[in-house]
Amino acid sequence: MQFQVRKNNFVEHRLVESSRHPDAPDLAAGEILVQLDAFAYTANNITYAVLGEKMGYWQFFPAEEDSEHWGVIPVWGFADVIASASADIPVGDRLFGYFPPATHLKLVPSQVSKRRFVDRSEHRSALPAGYNLYQRVLAEPNYSQAMDRARMLLFPLHLTSYCLWDLLQAKRWYEAEQVVLLSASSKTSIGLAYAIAADEQSPKLIGISSRHNLPSLQKLGLYETLLAYEDLSKIDATQATVIVDMSGNGAVLAQLNEHLGSQSTFTIRVGLTHWQKGVAFTDAAVGRSEVFFAPSHIQRRLKEWGPAVFHQKTTDFMLAAAQQLQTWLSFRTLDGLEGLQEIHAAVCEGKVPPNEGLIVKL
Ligand SMILES: NC(=O)c1ccc[n+]([C@@H]2O[C@H](COP(=O)([O-])OP(=O)(O)OC[C@H]3O[C@@H](n4cnc5c(N)ncnc54)[C@H](OP(=O)(O)O)[C@@H]3O)[C@@H](O)[C@H]2O)c1
Repeated sequence: MQFQVRKNNFVEHRLVESSRHPDAPDLAAGEILVQLDAFAYTANNITYAVLGEKMGYWQFFPAEEDSEHWGVIPVWGFADVIASASADIPVGDRLFGYFPPATHLKLVPSQVSKRRFVDRSEHRSALPAGYNLYQRVLAEPNYSQAMDRARMLLFPLHLTSYCLWDLLQAKRWYEAEQVVLLSASSKTSIGLAYAIAADEQSPKLIGISSRHNLPSLQKLGLYETLLAYEDLSKIDATQATVIVDMSGNGAVLAQLNEHLGSQSTFTIRVGLTHWQKGVAFTDAAVGRSEVFFAPSHIQRRLKEWGPAVFHQKTTDFMLAAAQQLQTWLSFRTLDGLEGLQEIHAAVCEGKVPPNEGLIVKL
């Protein structure tokens, strides 16, 4: 069974039964079959659909039946190996990684080590390497299923938060005295807010969010100042400012840049949570800016620091950030792909409360 969305109107969705039966998986030599256990669902997944054509996200997991018009949105989650024709990966292995919202998936493990492998399925070979990597979690010394929900919901997003903080401080905060974070209630923003709050050298932090999200963010206590989108003119325009944008909202970026004038030193364009307002990646009104793509930053740091240092730094950060959010965040478990069908439109429309973490349990 696979959850699919219509490519040119991804709020529309359907469930498609697979023609292949998992009890008779018909594996070629080297293949494994996994059964999905659970995955998280946030605006990040909706952005995969927004950028499905442009960035190749539809290519990871081709839709069964009419893949020209229907696409599969990738998700981060856990799966268990239920059949194996691979000499290296046994039945019973448990994996963390990039999956389709589906009951089952075939993978072709390569470069297998005790802790991870890379899927070498032909149709994924040209896609960014980080998405094809699977962690074999049972081999991790401290693996605990109690952390699964935080790991699928927060780790992929907070890895980006860490990279953004790393970029900002490497660039000496673009000479700014304040950071303005747009779509401040997103989990990626909250991870960055945590990193900035923990960094004594950082400039002051202003979070901008929808008015109805402000009370929840106030309780979180990570932003020094919180403002609604309608109150951009209250930002001190005498201070040099770097903008980190998770919203992709061209009108907000244009208004903010007009207000800040020459004090807007740089804009890092990260997300598209406000995808309904029109994608702003090519908006000339923004001035000095760059589009940030976490997998590229990760590859660069892996080369510069080596995998061991990179994994240690990022894991320490992600565990600490998850710990910080523990009392504020509550997980909401949805029942199977039918549960996902019920919540999909609300996630597309940004109607999920910021302190709610959606987990689809199969
Ligand atoms: N470039 C990269 O490498 C990279 C890596 C990771 C994540 N990202 C991006 O970062 C963004 C945040 O992802 P996330 O998973 O952290 O988000 P999330 O936690 O699901 O964020 C939810 C928040 O996003 C805003 N939102 C979502 N949908 C909306 C809609 N239709 N209309 C208006 N507001 C909406 C609302 O915040 P406000 O009211 O505060 O605006 C909402 O509270 C995504 O676009 C994601 O793709 C980029």
